[in-house]
Amino acid sequence: MHLDELERASRWTTWAALTSLGVFCLAACASGRDATSTATTPEATALAENPAPQLGKSPLPEVVAALTREEKVLLVLGSGMVLDTLPPERQGPVGGRQPMRVPGAAGQTIPVPRLGIPSIVLADGPAGLRIEPKRPETPSESYFCTAFPIATALAASWNPALIEDVGKALGAEVRGYGVDVLLAPALNLHRVPLGGRNFEYYSEDPLLSGKSAAAVVRGVQANGVGTSIKHFAANNEEWNRNVLNVRVDERTLRELYLRGFEIAVREGQPWTVMSSYNRINGTYTSEDPALLTGILREQWGYTGLVMTDWFGGSDVVQQMNAGNDLLMPGTEEQRQKLSAALASGAIAEVVDRNVGRVLELISKTPAFAGAAATAKVDLEAGARVSRAAGAEGMVLLKNERARLPLAKNARLALFGNGSYDTLRGGTGSGNVNASHSVSLAAGLSSAGYAVDGALEQQYQAHIGSERAKQTPPSGLAAFLPVELAPELGLDGAALARSVQASDAAVITLRRSSGEFVDRSREDFEVSSTEKALLGQVSKAFRAARKPVVVVLNVGGVIETASWRDLADAILLAWQPGQEAGHAIADVLSGVVTPSGKLPTTFPLLVDDAVAMKGFPGTVLQPGDDSRPPPFGGAKAAELEYAEHLAVGYRHYQTTGARVAYPFGHGLSYTTFEYGPLELTAGASPERWTLTLGVKNAGKLAGAEVVQLYVSAPAGKLPKPAIELRAFGKTRRLGPGEAEVVSFELGPRELASFDPAAGAWVADAGKYTLRAGASATDIRRTTTLELKSPAQIALR
Ligand code: BGC
Repeated sequence: MHLDELERASRWTTWAALTSLGVFCLAACASGRDATSTATTPEATALAENPAPQLGKSPLPEVVAALTREEKVLLVLGSGMVLDTLPPERQGPVGGRQPMRVPGAAGQTIPVPRLGIPSIVLADGPAGLRIEPKRPETPSESYFCTAFPIATALAASWNPALIEDVGKALGAEVRGYGVDVLLAPALNLHRVPLGGRNFEYYSEDPLLSGKSAAAVVRGVQANGVGTSIKHFAANNEEWNRNVLNVRVDERTLRELYLRGFEIAVREGQPWTVMSSYNRINGTYTSEDPALLTGILREQWGYTGLVMTDWFGGSDVVQQMNAGNDLLMPGTEEQRQKLSAALASGAIAEVVDRNVGRVLELISKTPAFAGAAATAKVDLEAGARVSRAAGAEGMVLLKNERARLPLAKNARLALFGNGSYDTLRGGTGSGNVNASHSVSLAAGLSSAGYAVDGALEQQYQAHIGSERAKQTPPSGLAAFLPVELAPELGLDGAALARSVQASDAAVITLRRSSGEFVDRSREDFEVSSTEKALLGQVSKAFRAARKPVVVVLNVGGVIETASWRDLADAILLAWQPGQEAGHAIADVLSGVVTPSGKLPTTFPLLVDDAVAMKGFPGTVLQPGDDSRPPPFGGAKAAELEYAEHLAVGYRHYQTTGARVAYPFGHGLSYTTFEYGPLELTAGASPERWTLTLGVKNAGKLAGAEVVQLYVSAPAGKLPKPAIELRAFGKTRRLGPGEAEVVSFELGPRELASFDPAAGAWVADAGKYTLRAGASATDIRRTTTLELKSPAQIALR
């Protein structure tokens, strides 16, 4: 038999075995028990005499050695993606389209029942589990998941313990619905204000990103299911993302774009890492051994699995060599290429290594343990966690004359479509199929406020008629950001009536964004209709001495400077999850005192972000690297990170540029006094402890986030004026109550990456430590003298 035929035969034997055993219902394989015991074929007889090793029972190398070549190939590939528009070569490697065992999951692996290897299921995403909420075979059942606040909102809480609780609740749903690995958290950086997926990411700062992601990982994995920190690395915008070549120097890469991942790996120990679509300095991240093996495994000590992003990269052999163990979602083309490479003997060892990692992952999962999906999840518990996290992530940007909290039982006129159709999250793989979203109107009504009914009717009619004009998107278009209805134009009479009928105005501005496209400059700006709305409402209500509150229901930053004077208070609610209206009402009413702080700077103008200079990048000569669908159509393109470290507050604080709201900013309904910042020797000679008393000096209970910024002495490398090196949050302090916040520091927290030394280096000299309520509101300062330089090895 020709080699090819042999391969095909063994492939079909595997596949026949899979289908005859009802692989994707997996009773046998999920239990991991010997699925061949009932067969009576000669192979079965041979096996009975010399039983095949079984995953989990036999040493791993024996299981790997017992796999056929074709089985190995199938184990490093997913079973394909369920998508009508896929050309044959991009369909799954095992007989085309395989239904997902958990409908709506993004992918699954291919089982090898004879060795007790089950298939495992992988599903998105960062704000909650993304699966299909309905299944044709059980029409009366539903499979909704909790929509939690978007990642940026979680980071805005600056509270890893809370974020870990979100992870726990999210992970319980992952487990309950029979998913083994959650494709989250995502922690690329807010490098540009217009990044289409910024809402899925935490911050412009790698420390806050890394700590937030590590908390999610710990929380989710506490349920015995895995996570996938993504997209590793430098996938900070969507434009031509499948082929984009990011040009970035090593120091910038290490200090900004890898640092968060390093923290998440070291402090979270994720089961998997997802490489990104883009290239870095000419090499696809999924094909880069220096990144996936050198940095990730050898330097950071990572022992888990690396998978590609969906259809990511180009050269499967190079991916295998690099240590990208699993190719998702898995295609027929990849199967053919890998089979050919393996047959030539080229990559036998690395495939065995990668297969070993796939098997190690599988053996940790509920699928392997034979845990049945209960399909019973506690959505009420999820809703409670989502509401609390949503409220804690909100940032009070402005509150003149303490107009917030709103008076109890006040009569409210709600303007803006977002007051009635409040967005819970973003789109694409960051979307969650939740059973509901609580609108702001509903949330305020249930909190006891009287919402102007006539105005509500007008808005509902407008939103309804705009919806009726839209055709629901299908296919890939269903993944794209939704087009939001234009704002309703107000007539003077209706406005005058609502001023009369209400005690305050609340205007909601909203934005939607998601995977595949970056935001436009128009999306950052406040439109002329929105400005007209703000102007009219503000004029009318202020004339009647009634307050005007603006709620921002957004996934990322927008322009605020041109209109903020029209508002007495501005609450940045983000897209706070399915309980949006309740969570916003909790803050507006004062049930929750706001304690969120900006995880990302609100610039005055979009172009104030230096990285906007090259945004989105340059199209290279077309034709050399265009990729086929489904996520293709991309043009070979390049983007230079010419701003180096000048991202976010690192830039604004260094140059003294003005911003609309600085990094770390967020007001409270109470005030806090900071005691002296005291430096003492830490647990070991090279560590220091910093302590600071924080006292609630106001009249309402609340919590404070203390941020520790460090300014390094002048040395060989240029340094940003300040860098966030630690943060802490008090518990909810009653009036007059105090708490001591403490930070641990060592040379690593003072260091910069010196490419010449190939190490993190902290120069000798005087470091200024600044404890503040934001990057510009520094309350206490002290200094620390490093007597001799410290060099921290990479591993
Ligand atoms: C996204 C990933 C996601 C994957 C699976 C890709 O398009 O970039 O974040 O996990 O799809 O849905």
